[in-house]
Amino acid sequence: MQYTTFGRTGLRVSVAGLGCGGFSRLGLGVGKSEDDAIAIVRAAIEAGVNLIDTAALYGTEGVVGRAIEPFDRSALVLATKALAGRGERIVKPEKLVASLENSLRELRTDYVDIFQLHAVAPEDYVRTRDELLPTLLRERDKGKFRFLGITETPSTDPDHEMLSHALRDGLWDSVMVAQHMLHQHARTRVYPQTQRYGAGTLLMFVVRGIFAQPERLAAEVQALGLPPLDFLLHAAGASSMMDAAYRFVRHEPGVDVVLFGTSDLTHLHANIDSITKSPLPAADLERLRSVYGHVTGVGLDVPTPPPKS
Ligand SMILES: NC(=O)c1ccc[n+]([C@@H]2O[C@H](COP(=O)([O-])OP(=O)(O)OC[C@H]3O[C@@H](n4cnc5c(N)ncnc54)[C@H](OP(=O)(O)O)[C@@H]3O)[C@@H](O)[C@H]2O)c1
Repeated sequence: MQYTTFGRTGLRVSVAGLGCGGFSRLGLGVGKSEDDAIAIVRAAIEAGVNLIDTAALYGTEGVVGRAIEPFDRSALVLATKALAGRGERIVKPEKLVASLENSLRELRTDYVDIFQLHAVAPEDYVRTRDELLPTLLRERDKGKFRFLGITETPSTDPDHEMLSHALRDGLWDSVMVAQHMLHQHARTRVYPQTQRYGAGTLLMFVVRGIFAQPERLAAEVQALGLPPLDFLLHAAGASSMMDAAYRFVRHEPGVDVVLFGTSDLTHLHANIDSITKSPLPAADLERLRSVYGHVTGVGLDVPTPPPKS
């Protein structure tokens, strides 16, 4: 595993981070058992992953809490999230605190390393910040979490408007941003600011549905009037489209942690392997940027939320 410093937090984090949401939700989203999900978390930690990203919404905090029990808590960087609400329904500060406390119970810990406001839309950002930040900072001062983060809503905010605004405020220690081979412009719209303000970056949507489904990828690229991405697959290049997707973002200047979500142990090891490999060949990168760099808003689909228990 390779490690990097997570922005101004100073945390040392693995460049591959385990995502516990997305379509797979550690396997709970695709019919696997809690024991299977625990095995995924433990295999990731044993492979050197120390950053684990979950959320109140995902229904995976309890599994993560059980999975990490045999490990040294202080060596892990646990990130979770609470929904801040939308429009007229921004959550009351006390509800946000209740969500944080429930996350701590589920995760079987007395602090999280990164506490994030989950999926904040551009139009809600100012209200969310003004109504919730004072409470958040009080909870942080009590030691319930160490660093404050915010995540965007890629499907409705493909141009990263919320993060552009939030980063200028300089209040957030970490941001979660979507970038992939057909949605590249975080390079110019987000990373210059994360680097300027010292925010750590967590990457989501790197594979999602689009790069895991060859027929869908081929159809979407054709619909855009672009040549297929198969040129990436050759002996000196990527071994698969997933390999290309992870290696592409991993070496973008400004990216700290590439999150991967999976229900499958073989995928887990393949993904870690890709994320820790060398960059794609320079000619392939150049072609990806020049031919596909203008595309945005593709492959940013949202999974169905988990059933309420
Ligand atoms: N707004 C937010 O805050 C937000 C939104 C989305 C995601 N996230 C975070 O980002 C994490 C990553 O989510 P993502 O959906 O963007 O995940 P992702 O890693 O880009 O994609 C996950 C999908 O790709 C498949 N996959 C993964 N590795 C594969 C491989 N080697 N071969 C074939 N298929 C593979 C998975 O299926 P298998 O299960 O079969 O491997 C799953 O369907 C989430 O878990 C979550 O922590 C946050």
